[in-house]
Amino acid sequence: MAQPLKVGIAGLGTVGASVVRVIEEERATLAARCGRPIEVVAVTARSRGKKRGIDLRNVRWISDPQTLASDREIDVFVELIGGAGEPAHGAVAAALKAGKSVVTANKALLARHGLALAQAAERSGVVLNFEAAVGGAIPIVKTLREGLAGNSITRIYGILNGTCNYMLTRMEHEKLSYDECLKEAQKLGYAEADPTFDVEGHDTAQKLAILASIAFGSKIDQSAVYVEGISSITPEDLAWADELGYRVKLLGVAMRTDKGIEQRVHPTMVPKASQIAQVMGVTNAVTVDPEGIAPITLVGPGAGGMATASAVVADIADIARGTQVAPFGWPTARLKRSGKAPMQRHEGGYYIRLLARDRPGTAATIAKRLAQQHISLESIVQRHREAPLQGGGAPGRSGAAVPVILITYATTEDAVRKALSAVSRDRVISAKPQVIRIEKN
Ligand SMILES: NC(=O)c1ccc[n+]([C@@H]2O[C@H](COP(=O)([O-])OP(=O)(O)OC[C@H]3O[C@@H](n4cnc5c(N)ncnc54)[C@H](OP(=O)(O)O)[C@@H]3O)[C@@H](O)[C@H]2O)c1
Repeated sequence: MAQPLKVGIAGLGTVGASVVRVIEEERATLAARCGRPIEVVAVTARSRGKKRGIDLRNVRWISDPQTLASDREIDVFVELIGGAGEPAHGAVAAALKAGKSVVTANKALLARHGLALAQAAERSGVVLNFEAAVGGAIPIVKTLREGLAGNSITRIYGILNGTCNYMLTRMEHEKLSYDECLKEAQKLGYAEADPTFDVEGHDTAQKLAILASIAFGSKIDQSAVYVEGISSITPEDLAWADELGYRVKLLGVAMRTDKGIEQRVHPTMVPKASQIAQVMGVTNAVTVDPEGIAPITLVGPGAGGMATASAVVADIADIARGTQVAPFGWPTARLKRSGKAPMQRHEGGYYIRLLARDRPGTAATIAKRLAQQHISLESIVQRHREAPLQGGGAPGRSGAAVPVILITYATTEDAVRKALSAVSRDRVISAKPQVIRIEKN
């Protein structure tokens, strides 16, 4: 059998320890598939004494990631520390410079330094693989880079954060408020003590920036992503969505438009019959719209030690086999500036929930403001609910607040914002309007 591929792993936490375990447990399968064994020969983490439930007796312990990165014995440096700063960044850069191939699960690092790292990999003629950085076990990077190498992509969108999808699922099914749901998610370990990064959409934005670069051959640019999280979503919105044939998901969407590449993360109404609407709990899903063929949806576990290790080990196996693909699927010299499409020019349907004052002329005023912006309505629901509304007054009496739900035909973000500002100035509503964009499949 050929020479083994020698691997050094920096970071032995949730993912790193699982990678060591999978390489050990699948030793024979990996050797048979790759035509050579894969061996973990050196590791590093913060604390040497920590119990990790893995056998490291025949593995060298290296004092720090930077030293491991340029260790003479290793062929591949696997970075599973996390974070866009040090020591992850310096160690990955050092490994590439030293001519080592790199595998990482670090979306933050790629979103910030992806282009420079890809250029460094190219200069050294080595591989930079990062399947695990997006969608956990879902092989979306490979699908875009290799499986769809002959297809132009028009749009890619997905549920890329399990915490948000778990929370929206629970809110919908159990009619829980956002705060109740967050507390529960934290108790179960699905949400961090500080959940901001997940619930405000930044995690999804980093992953989307990576996917957009591969799909559209653009230079990765996280700052080009419009980001809105799920904290404003109420059980009431989810109930209205259900009634109107939709479900609410936090989507990352990247699409080619004639104004550039639109990249956005926000709560989104998707038709209940769509594949993406069926994805519940912590599961992730990505849909790719290639030109000329029907959309392709991949669904699977987006996080967790074993799910993420599955993608990391597949990346290592590719290196063992000798597979070399440009990190973002295109030589870096061919990657274009992303040409950010401004959000004001986003076109699509909108769900708008207004708390309208129940008095003569309100409906006419709202209709006038929408008409001034050429917004046409697909449906309008105005209902005096039996139960008093959150934040509203008692229903049904003159001057009290009544929910009005509008579903628009395709219009622009700019038109919606202008119409709603005018409606607010007219004093016919008694709370900030809720706006949720609709994504048709
Ligand atoms: N967990 C997931 O489900 C998941 C999913 C997709 C992607 N990822 C990505 O995978 C990467 C690892 O995540 P994780 O969940 O495994 O993190 P983790 O459990 O916190 O593990 C981090 C590891 O890095 C080590 N480390 C931290 N600072 C270090 C330093 N200065 N020098 C050396 N080692 C250091 C830690 O050492 P000690 O153990 O000694 O403290 C630990 O072993 C991150 O980029 C993350 O975004 C994770």
